[in-house]
Amino acid sequence: MANAPELSPSPSAAHDVGPGPHPDIRGFTVGGTVRVERPFVLAPMSGVTDSAFRRMCGMASTDTVGLYVTEFISIEGLTRANMKSAARLAFDARVERPLSVQIFGGEVERMASAAQIAEEGGAQIVDINCGCPAPKVVKRGGGAELMRQCDTLARLVERTVNAVKVPVTVKIRSGWGADSINAVQVARMCEEAGAQMICVHGRTRLQLYTGEADWGVVADVAANVRVPVVGSGDVTTAEEAIWRARTPGVAGVMIGRAAIMNPWIFGQIDDLIQGKPQRVVDGAERLRVLRAFAEMAAERIPAHAIPGRLKQVLARMTKGMEFGSLLRERAMRAQTTEEMFDWIERFFVAADAGELETWALGARFEPVQVSVAA
Ligand SMILES: Cc1cc2nc3c(=O)[nH]c(=O)nc-3n(C[C@H](O)[C@H](O)[C@H](O)COP(=O)(O)O)c2cc1C
Repeated sequence: MANAPELSPSPSAAHDVGPGPHPDIRGFTVGGTVRVERPFVLAPMSGVTDSAFRRMCGMASTDTVGLYVTEFISIEGLTRANMKSAARLAFDARVERPLSVQIFGGEVERMASAAQIAEEGGAQIVDINCGCPAPKVVKRGGGAELMRQCDTLARLVERTVNAVKVPVTVKIRSGWGADSINAVQVARMCEEAGAQMICVHGRTRLQLYTGEADWGVVADVAANVRVPVVGSGDVTTAEEAIWRARTPGVAGVMIGRAAIMNPWIFGQIDDLIQGKPQRVVDGAERLRVLRAFAEMAAERIPAHAIPGRLKQVLARMTKGMEFGSLLRERAMRAQTTEEMFDWIERFFVAADAGELETWALGARFEPVQVSVAA
């Protein structure tokens, strides 16, 4: 995640959807059984969307996330009972519903067994990753490589569909490279093999995260399959999410990087759909949500790892805020969670009081605490 690509805002005027209400924006059903009430999906993001992060989004957005997806989980790890992979299956059933568990790999039988483990672990949907561009995943036949190995992918989907009762879905890219865009063919084949939803990130494997996501490809896929299609790529605001949800034939929209900067985004989308003013997020709310995140993270990861996770979220959440870089610089040097919150709290209290300039004066000259291990 440290090098997670930045998400550039697109000109919002191009996505003006008006103040709402927007009653045409409705949910959809996956495989005839899993109802996604709101068509906005929290994207899977490895190293980011663990259970604590997903719950933070649910909390900040007052339970308006349409569908939660786990970080991708290795089928090798799951079937060999690797602790790290098993830990990625953890979720809180009171919040993270419906939940899709995403798995990755390239071996047919192992994929089917991993899907069964995910189902037993509580997945309501099992999603097969066909989009990861990372060399270590691709080299072993998984992720985006499956878009070049269509025969294997077809067997893999079919076998997995037959192995579990829950719907099986796939997440693909637009193709391997600009001269091999094959999302439509791959999606059709997956549908034929029994996939119940297709998610399309409108970039090629070779593009990684550069350039812009091509929502034309998303629309092409939607026009060519009967199962729900969810589009992914570059949604930055509530307006844009609604605008993208109106892409012809598209059932839903995934939100990834924007949710790191703004976990309230699903709630803001919901406000806009209902014709209400979009919720404004003040410093007190940011502090509340960050504290909750740290507490939820502490339930599953060791105390020494919390500051790292908190820094990751804080860095994105305060991007573009006045004096945000000063806060980041100071908070990033903190050694403990308490030290970090000391900085964060003073910053947000000052922000709400309109006293950030005074805060900044003090912060610049305050010596940085150095923790000495007992
Ligand atoms: C840090 C990071 C990790 C990601 N990990 C996954 C993953 O585990 N599985 C997956 O299908 N996509 C993964 N993606 C891709 C996202 O799900 C999404 O398709 C992509 O970021 C484009 O959407 P966005 O512009 O809303 O972020 C990841 C993206 C980022 C930035």
